[in-house]
Amino acid sequence: MKKSPIIALDFHSTKEALTFLEAFEGGINVKVGMQLYYKEGPAIIAKLKEQGYDVFLDLKLHDIPNTVKSAMEVLAGLGADLVNVHAAGGQTMMEAALEGLDKGTPSGQQRPSIIGVTQLTSTDERQVREEQLIGVSLEQSVLQYAKGSKAAGLDGVVCSVHEATSIETTCGKDFFKVTPGIRLADSGNQDQKRIATPEQARLAGSTHIVVGRAITAAADPRAAYDVITAQWEGLK
Ligand code: C5P
Repeated sequence: MKKSPIIALDFHSTKEALTFLEAFEGGINVKVGMQLYYKEGPAIIAKLKEQGYDVFLDLKLHDIPNTVKSAMEVLAGLGADLVNVHAAGGQTMMEAALEGLDKGTPSGQQRPSIIGVTQLTSTDERQVREEQLIGVSLEQSVLQYAKGSKAAGLDGVVCSVHEATSIETTCGKDFFKVTPGIRLADSGNQDQKRIATPEQARLAGSTHIVVGRAITAAADPRAAYDVITAQWEGLK
């Protein structure tokens, strides 16, 4: 995946997604999540690849190891550049995911990168303590998931900007820290709890930022993308 912001294409249809992308040059990073993938299936990945986009297929697999392995074997053939699983599925499940991905990658092609989702950016400290009954801080929980992801051989994690620095210290600079929950200083949180600006992400050591509504719901999405890219690259 290139280093440029990854736009979350949280749309209902291929038509809506492609119409939205008309304002952008091909070659940018996009993310296909459950909403679009469950509606359009593998064809949406093929279409976006055909048009030159780098694609993060964000399906957050979480099941028994054998099921995740088989599913990854199938996903490996779709052409996505990056896929993910929930680190909460455990180390054996993550190892199985990697095995399936290796097995399903067509010969001569590069295996998609794979990352573990730690704690969702919509989760806060209270939920970790009171709902999940985890007796450590949210940051420690995220870090533990990051260590498990690394030990399983994954390429990185999804985390919030607030944990990126400690993950860099523990897991290294090259280990992907893909951070959603990105907002410009003047925009609202919506359902996200652990938010940060593109500049904070860069300073904290995020390797990639995922941006949805701050771009897709903006009055001028292209202008919003340009502002976010400039902040992310440190030009502004
Ligand atoms: O609109 P917004 O920028 O909040 O969208 C963030 C995107 O990143 C959504 O598509 C969401 O599913 C995804 N995501 C997330 N938190 C994670 C993993 C993925 O918000 N931990």
